[in-house]
Order: sequence, then C-alpha cells, then structure tokens
Amino acid sequence: MTKYTSSTLAVPEASAIPRHVAIIMDGNGRWASKRLMPRVAGHSEGLGAVRKVVEECRRIGVEYLTVFAFSSENWRRPPEEVGFLMKLFLKSLKGEVSRMAENDIAFSVIGDLSRFDPAIQEMVHFSEQKTAACKGLTFTIAANYGGRWDILQAMRRCIAANPNLKPEQVTEELLQPHLSMAFAPEPDLFIRTGGEQRTSNFLLWQLAYTELYFTDVLWPDFDEAELHKAFDWYSQRERRFGRTSAQLASQAMSDAV
Ligand code: IPE
Ligand code: IPE
Ligand code: MG
Repeated sequence: MTKYTSSTLAVPEASAIPRHVAIIMDGNGRWASKRLMPRVAGHSEGLGAVRKVVEECRRIGVEYLTVFAFSSENWRRPPEEVGFLMKLFLKSLKGEVSRMAENDIAFSVIGDLSRFDPAIQEMVHFSEQKTAACKGLTFTIAANYGGRWDILQAMRRCIAANPNLKPEQVTEELLQPHLSMAFAPEPDLFIRTGGEQRTSNFLLWQLAYTELYFTDVLWPDFDEAELHKAFDWYSQRERRFGRTSAQLASQAMSDAV
C-alpha cells in the first residue's frame, strides 16, 4: 500500500506551498540559437537554472522536486547532441553530489537506466546511496523516462508480483506501488518552460490532478523569481478534484468552526 493519497481514490490535502513540483526544462536549444551558439551551449547554461531551482525549493520547504532531463524520445536527436547530454549528466552528477549531501538533499533518478553507459549507472547509484539519509528535499531527475514506459513497467512488475491475478482484481492500489514515483505524492504543480503546452510523455499517470503552468521563459533564463511567479499562480488555483466550488466553500466553513 502506498503512504500517499491517490487523487482519484480520495481527495488529497492541498497545501499552500506545493509539496511536489514537476518541471519540464525546455528551451535550451532555442536559448543558444538566439545567441548564435551551438544548441549544446544551452544545455550547459541550463545547469545553472537547475541549481537555482533546487536550492530555492529546498529553502522554501518543497518536499519533492522532479525534473525532466531526457525523454525516452530524446534518443531521436543527433548523436552528437545525445552524446553531449550524456557527458554533461555524468559531469554534473560528479560535481554536485557532495553539495547535495551537504544541503540535506536526497537524490534519485527515474527512468530506464539500462540504456545508459555503465559509468553513468554507477554514478547514479553512488549518488543515490550517498544522499539516501537526507531529509530536506527529494530531488529526482527523469532520465530516459517516458510516462508510457512507466505505466507499462509498473504493469509488468505488478503481474510478476501477483501471477495469479484475474483481470477484475487489477486495481489502482495494486498498480501504484510499482510506478517509478511511488515514493512521492502526486505533483501539485507542473511547470513547463520554453512556450510549448504539452506533456511530451512526462509523468502521465501522476499528473491526473496536477495544476499545469506554462511559461515562455527559456529554461536557462528560469530563476528564483520565475519560480515564485509559478508558486503565486499556483496559490490562486481552486483545486476541486472533481467537486464543486460550493462544496469547497462549505468545507472551508466547517473546518473554520
Ligand atoms: C530541453 O531543451 C532539454 C532537453 C530536451 C534535453 P531543448 O533541447 O528541447 O531545447 P529546445 O526546445 O530545442 O529549445
Ligand atoms: C521534453 O522536451 C523533454 C525534456 C525537457 C527532457 P522536448 O523538447 O524533447 O519535447 P518536444 O519534442 O518539444 O515535445
Ligand atoms: Mg525542446
């Protein structure tokens, strides 16, 4: 059983500060092209934005931050760009792991790691272990991740764990623990930079009731001020989870007395 409320099985508690923020960091290539630089320069510059957002989330008490770094479809890019992203991933892990441990940040990766170089797989495991006892913020990178892959791998693991399961016995409760984000509550706030308004196969299952925020700001330009704009927008949302506004109002009245 999961320790978190599923938004479709019950109404989760909505907090003023999002507990879980999920970000599609998009627009690195365009940021570089605008400056007549190679696309990959935008990826390097994007690292600075990751650092700012991680530290600001840690500071204000966000519990989970999940960022999309490489999708299962990003292998379709030119091999030189994919190779550069892989090197950058390894280099940044090596450079940041001690800093994360010092800042009490628990690091994790979701996605199919088997397609990565063994050096990356080892560094991921090392970083996860080194920060496993940290309690301040859980920072997750989605790498070779796809929402459809996630649901399929969860189905496979669910069937393997319950081999005699009949179709009518398959429930959300049985499947959920096998999803790759089973350790976290569903995201409260989704942010996509770079102007596109699509999910690009990010956390498809988990985004069922997430508030979706889109900004034209390109990822390397995203900073603490932009993050707070997203939080301010989030704080204005009425999270109904299927109910009516009148029901929410009467609930607030009864909570107040
Ligand atoms: C996001 O930026 C980073 C990755 C997908 C790795 P892009 O590289 O997609 O940048 P744009 O969208 O082409 O500007
Ligand atoms: C989504 O961005 C994936 C990541 C940010 C890692 P893309 O740039 O790959 O998405 P599309 O292709 O524009 O949908
Ligand atoms: Mg893009």
